[in-house]
Amino acid sequence: MDRLELFPLTTRTQKDFLTIAGHDLPLLAEEYGTPLYLYDRATMDHAAAGYKSALASHYPAPASVTYAGKAFLNLAVAQWTQFHNLFVDCTGEGEIAIAMAGGVPREHILVHGVNKSRADLKSALQNAGTIVVDNLTELKTLVSDSLLSVMLKQDSALQKIQLWLRLLPGVAVETHHAHTQTGQHDSKFGMTPAEILEAAAFCKSYNLPLSGIHFHQGSNFRDASPLQAAIELGLDIARDIDFDGGWHFSPGGGWGVAYHEDELPQPDINEYVRMIAEHVIHGCQTRDLALPHLHLEPGRSLVARAGVAVYRVGAIKRRGDKVWLLTDGGMTDNPRHAMYGAKYSCLPVSGVSREGREKVSIAGPYCESGDVVIEDLLMPNIEEGELIAIPASGAYHLSMSSNYNGSRKPAVLWLEDGQAKIIVRRETIDDLLKRDLGIF
Ligand SMILES: Cc1ncc(COP(=O)(O)O)c(C=O)c1O
Repeated sequence: MDRLELFPLTTRTQKDFLTIAGHDLPLLAEEYGTPLYLYDRATMDHAAAGYKSALASHYPAPASVTYAGKAFLNLAVAQWTQFHNLFVDCTGEGEIAIAMAGGVPREHILVHGVNKSRADLKSALQNAGTIVVDNLTELKTLVSDSLLSVMLKQDSALQKIQLWLRLLPGVAVETHHAHTQTGQHDSKFGMTPAEILEAAAFCKSYNLPLSGIHFHQGSNFRDASPLQAAIELGLDIARDIDFDGGWHFSPGGGWGVAYHEDELPQPDINEYVRMIAEHVIHGCQTRDLALPHLHLEPGRSLVARAGVAVYRVGAIKRRGDKVWLLTDGGMTDNPRHAMYGAKYSCLPVSGVSREGREKVSIAGPYCESGDVVIEDLLMPNIEEGELIAIPASGAYHLSMSSNYNGSRKPAVLWLEDGQAKIIVRRETIDDLLKRDLGIF
């Protein structure tokens, strides 16, 4: 069944119900409640190993993989990154703190952010190995703010921190929705080529530790060819900057995954890495440039397929041509359909082999008509009270979750052969009230 290929690698059907890493989903839902998020470690390991082996096969100089923490970050995931020696991309001081608490060492913390606050910059100088500078204002803050400039100039910080500049390549990738593009000419991210050269001159005049160029064109693309023009531009700029000694080049992340059976087969990580590596090697040869330390920065393609959301169906409503399955999860744990029309698929947790009977739409319990996760998907007859499992739920769900309508964020279970462990407990009413101080 095609849909099973959207699920984690260890997914099986046993007596017609779903299992992941040997764990029965009906039993997990019974024990931990729903909505429930499951992460299959083997699928994450496989993706990380895929990036590493592709880089080893196609790129002859040093290369690293940075996990984009914005996809899904907590202590367990931060700890997991270090089994694979990954860098971790942290947006601001909050994610830096999570990475540190998960044991990510300074040299593996890389800090992004389009409008970093002074607190973000301070935390980055104290705790990170790399700051990716988004704009000239940020650079000027680093040298004009007395605290930050002292921190930056301390010998120890200068040895530990590298600055890269974020290029706005002005080239769009196809991502299905404008909101997941970041590299097009009018994007809010990064610096134009002219601004990059100005920033590089600024770094030189203040003797700042500039050592790399980064760009990121968008998220969830499966045609990597627009990266070529951006790589060319990045290499031209690197040649103009003339880095002393070794330099770093990061063409970002964004490689896609399949969310729906229409999108199968899964995009091939090896092909994506090969294309980038060959293009960088060729571009450096034609410019007589030293090969850079190459950094790739995936988030979604490392964790999306590993994650499954398990919901329980409550009421079922028939309205004209629509059949609504109303579930206990929705836009507060997965806002992606509401935000940009993301497409998903689904299977019942039990009776998996039942034939598709009718198209259903799956909506959550929240007070928004846009609280929809799936529209018009062929499903077997589902009964009230049944469990359903939504694959490819591992990235940009819980990291973008909310407490709308007083909802409590779901529990997250980490699944390996022989163990199912809660890595994030379900939020409680006490958690909801903790920050709320009242007035009278
Ligand atoms: C700077 C940067 N790097 C990496 C990523 C990761 O993208 P993805 O999760 O699609 O691989 C993002 C996502 O928006 C990003 O903004």
